[in-house]
Amino acid sequence: MSQRSDPISQALTPQVRFLLVYGATAAFFALGSMLVFWWIYDIIQSSAPVPTTSPIYANYDPAGSHLKPESLAAMAAYTEANPQPQGVQVLKGWSTAQISAYMVAQVSGGLKVDCSYCHNVANFAEEGNVKKTNARAMMLMAADLNRSYIAQLPASVGNYQITCATCHNGKPVFETYPIAIQNTLPNDFKLPLDRNYPGGLVVTGRDDVGLEDVELNQYTMYHYNVSLGQGCTFCHNARYFPSYEIAQKKHATIMMQMAQHINNTYSRAIMAGKTPSCWMCHQGAQIPPGAATDGQVPPMLSKNGK
Ligand code: HEC
Ligand code: HEC
Ligand code: HEC
Ligand code: HEC
Repeated sequence: MSQRSDPISQALTPQVRFLLVYGATAAFFALGSMLVFWWIYDIIQSSAPVPTTSPIYANYDPAGSHLKPESLAAMAAYTEANPQPQGVQVLKGWSTAQISAYMVAQVSGGLKVDCSYCHNVANFAEEGNVKKTNARAMMLMAADLNRSYIAQLPASVGNYQITCATCHNGKPVFETYPIAIQNTLPNDFKLPLDRNYPGGLVVTGRDDVGLEDVELNQYTMYHYNVSLGQGCTFCHNARYFPSYEIAQKKHATIMMQMAQHINNTYSRAIMAGKTPSCWMCHQGAQIPPGAATDGQVPPMLSKNGK
């Protein structure tokens, strides 16, 4: 059994022994440092604060200086004279008092404009102001996005929903690609919304992919990072980017489909031609700071409504 002349012992010259020990030691330290890296990474990840409320929304100042006292007085007079609304098409089933509360908190509050931006405050039911017509279309859009896309995200994300502030963030008119977020991107970068998702940005295992496709993938990924304030591993297994075991990558795919739908259906029709970006809502945060919590959205506009 232990004959010194067997082929294995003969092959184990001092040099080979040295190389084997050296190799094993190097592999041990390489594996060790990787484990330590992921161990520390996990600690950092799990202690990262999970946002529970949306700060901009919570910090709204509904009675802020954007509301004129005369408008609030007109609101009180109108609500008393008309306990039931006279001309609503979307907010049906609500009393005038409920509608007014929503107008103060989310419509005027979300855009930080006075009631007179959309209304003749002598008669809130009056039609004819194009801003009011546009705002009604925006309500229907928010309902569509909540039902068709936000409803697909699991409750574990936080049950937030889209309201006026989610895109407007306190401004009636705004840029969807402010120059400050383009940073290392070409200034004219926009999300590639003419492709289909999932799959439109896949580069692995395809031989029809050129340098422009790789570049477009990188620009888009960078836009995701900046818009959500997260690194690549928020969505990816950094050792294999094509895989889907991290739920956030699937969530991002639903969001990309939503951005595509906004672009095809609403950009030209009611959004002054503005193309959606991830930044438009996320503003550098995992949860858009202007998102509403479940109970804040009128039932007829919410993801559970009909
Ligand atoms: C950005 C535009 C916009 C702003 C600002 C706005 N509203 Fe409205 N408001 C609307 C739209 C659109 C409707 C109609 C909704 C519908 O068709 O269901 C409406 C409907 C109403 C109604 C129901 C009128 C009726 O009898 O039919 C009241 C009351 C009202 N708003 C009060 C206010 C008050 C008070 C403010 C200020 C705090 C305000 N609104 C700010 C767009 C706006
Ligand atoms: C998906 C994003 C998004 C949501 C949600 C949204 N808006 Fe808008 N809205 C826009 C964009 C983009 C514009 C175009 C801004 C511009 O002209 O630069 C716009 C324009 C408007 C305008 C015209 C502003 C002007 O002075 O020309 C009104 C009024 C308006 N929105 C009201 C609302 C109301 C009310 C809600 C909530 C019911 C709402 N929006 C929800 C994206 C959104
Ligand atoms: C918010 C989530 C998110 C973030 C953050 C993100 N990605 Fe992605 N990434 C995706 C999604 C979703 C896809 C799939 C796109 C598609 O369906 O075509 C993707 C695709 C990719 C691909 C192509 C994989 C393939 O199958 O060929 C690469 C490479 C990639 N990302 C690298 C990165 C890098 C590097 C970063 C950081 C700079 C990053 N990603 C940040 C969500 C994200
Ligand atoms: C119209 C507004 C809007 C736009 C545009 C938007 N998002 Fe979101 N996003 C939301 C809202 C609201 C939530 C929270 C939903 C919830 O709590 O269920 C969310 C949640 C997410 C999440 C889930 C976070 C988690 O913890 O899993 C990811 C990932 C995400 N968005 C990625 C993106 C990407 C990538 C883009 C651009 C392609 C984008 N979003 C564009 C409104 C938007």
